[in-house]
Amino acid sequence: MLNYSSKVLEHFRNPRNMGRMENPDGVGKVGNPQCGDVMWIYIKVENDVITDIKFETFGCVAAISTSSMVTELVKGKTIEEALKITNKTVTEALGGLPPSKLHCSVLAEDGIKAAILDYLKKNNRIEDIKRLNLKIKNEEEMSHEFDEGDKGD
Ligand code: FES
Repeated sequence: MLNYSSKVLEHFRNPRNMGRMENPDGVGKVGNPQCGDVMWIYIKVENDVITDIKFETFGCVAAISTSSMVTELVKGKTIEEALKITNKTVTEALGGLPPSKLHCSVLAEDGIKAAILDYLKKNNRIEDIKRLNLKIKNEEEMSHEFDEGDKGD
């Protein structure tokens, strides 16, 4: 059994902001190539402030708990502030992760970036995309490749 912090386990057992969002302003989908786990992040944005956020993550304990934590860290922040949140920020807020699970936290950082990029693209904010130099490491095709019936797998 991996040595997870109590905060990691608490977020895993009671994930915050989990679920799909209707009519999001931005959606990011990212995947971890090392394990195949996938995360969707949905954001609502008003005046460049992330007013609401939800996630769906099909992944390990670390992936779920970092998803949950990143939604808490990002909610209420401007998109520029949100882009400063790294996987290190998220991991520290959770009291650390076992070294073998650090790669899982990259999804959280990437998912937020991908959702913000999608929001900026939808609003034709080309200059902002250039200025913010948004690079997503592991962006995936933007589609749900499962339907509701697959969720229990
Ligand atoms: Fe896949 Fe953790 S093992 S994200």
